[in-house]
Amino acid sequence: MAHILLRHRDIENIHELDVYLAHGGYEGLKKALSIQPDEVIEVVKKSGLRGRGGAGFPTGIKWGFIPKGPGEKYVIINTDESETGTFKDRELVEKNPHQVIEGALIAAYAIGARTIYNYFRGEYMDAAYRFEEALKACYERGLLGQNILGSDFSCDFYCHYGAGAYICGEETALINSLMGNLGQPWSKPPFPAIEGLYGKPTVVNNTETLANVPPILVNGPEWYTSMGTEKSPGVKIVCMSGHVERPGNYEVEMGVTYRQLIEMAGGMRNGRKFKALLPSGGSGPVITEEALDAPMTYEGLTPYGSVMGSSSVIVMDETTDMVWAALKMVHFFRHESCGKCTPCREGTFWMEKVLSRIYHGYGTERDLQILESVANQIGGRCLCALGDFAVNPVLSTIRHFFDEYKAKVSGAGQKQQATRETAVATAD
Ligand SMILES: Cc1cc2nc3c(=O)[nH]c(=O)nc-3n(C[C@H](O)[C@H](O)[C@H](O)COP(=O)(O)O)c2cc1C
Ligand code: SF4
Repeated sequence: MAHILLRHRDIENIHELDVYLAHGGYEGLKKALSIQPDEVIEVVKKSGLRGRGGAGFPTGIKWGFIPKGPGEKYVIINTDESETGTFKDRELVEKNPHQVIEGALIAAYAIGARTIYNYFRGEYMDAAYRFEEALKACYERGLLGQNILGSDFSCDFYCHYGAGAYICGEETALINSLMGNLGQPWSKPPFPAIEGLYGKPTVVNNTETLANVPPILVNGPEWYTSMGTEKSPGVKIVCMSGHVERPGNYEVEMGVTYRQLIEMAGGMRNGRKFKALLPSGGSGPVITEEALDAPMTYEGLTPYGSVMGSSSVIVMDETTDMVWAALKMVHFFRHESCGKCTPCREGTFWMEKVLSRIYHGYGTERDLQILESVANQIGGRCLCALGDFAVNPVLSTIRHFFDEYKAKVSGAGQKQQATRETAVATAD
């Protein structure tokens, strides 16, 4: 099947405007401009498209929350993409930028916005240069600026570059950062749909979410719902990494199983045995063999206590030390915690400290209890989801691989006294 999102893999140089136009580019925008904004929202609602940034909120419903009538409104594309193991949005903005621009323009028309921002992960400079070239071409051809395609719709587009903070992918932290404030989340309400950028109604959508919109407008919502499953229709880009033969991005219909995804990525590296995988980068609970036949949908992993998230699948083979894996993830979250709320700021610090002690062989049975207790005091007590994310690798590895933790703490009490300071300082 031809790609719907990763179209550059089928069509050479589709990042160039002429090539994109020659292959039906901006037909979705034309279709949108030929109907009323509310009708565009209805089409997207009917398609069942859900946010690809992780939470899976229905896109059409989100657009419908924006108050009607005059006044400044904004669309923001979230290309912060700093989740561990996630690299799909980068490929889209670099290789198929016009599809993202077109999707954002349709969103802007639908909600009555005249300004779009793309917030890039700071490290994505090559992709961003390519994206900016695409924007320039759009301005030259009347696809951006005043009276787009001869219509009454006018819209400007700006790029903004983050400085390498995972938390700036959280929509309110992103908005703060975009306004030049400290990149920290705010407590909702107010929701961005009511008070977002510069206090005005704002839609924040993931890059991949918006790339789905032009083909939906062109082919209709029924075409989209004919793919995937009833509650999770359409296609999804999955980032496969870790111990597979062919890591990379794979575009699939929703509902494919995790076992099929591993096969698609060439199977386990060096023929080793599968041990576990992280279905949503570091932020979702780890799953084991028993969940491999679950469908990759927003609900598919619920019986296994995990989530699809942004579909960044990190595969681990039998050689992986699961305490080490948990420590790696917690190190990331401790480093990325913005520090605004105490359970996350202090809790991630202490989880890393205790985990490090356990991993290096200086932990005790008591440390295991402390680790679980600290994790349980973070979950559900934080201002944003980063705190909950940080807890997932710890509690899920304890649940599935308790033996590995036990083996590390057995008979280690005396070593702990002797070299405690050295051990806690090491996080690798
Ligand atoms: C710590 C944290 C990091 C996030 N990072 C991203 C990100 O890099 N990209 C993204 O699209 N959404 C990210 N999100 C989710 C956004 O807050 C928001 O839900 C999303 O951009 C909405 O777009 P969607 O509805 O199209 O999925 C993050 C959330 C949290 C809590
Ligand atoms: S949960 Fe962590 S990252 Fe989120 S606001 Fe609190 S301290 Fe910041």
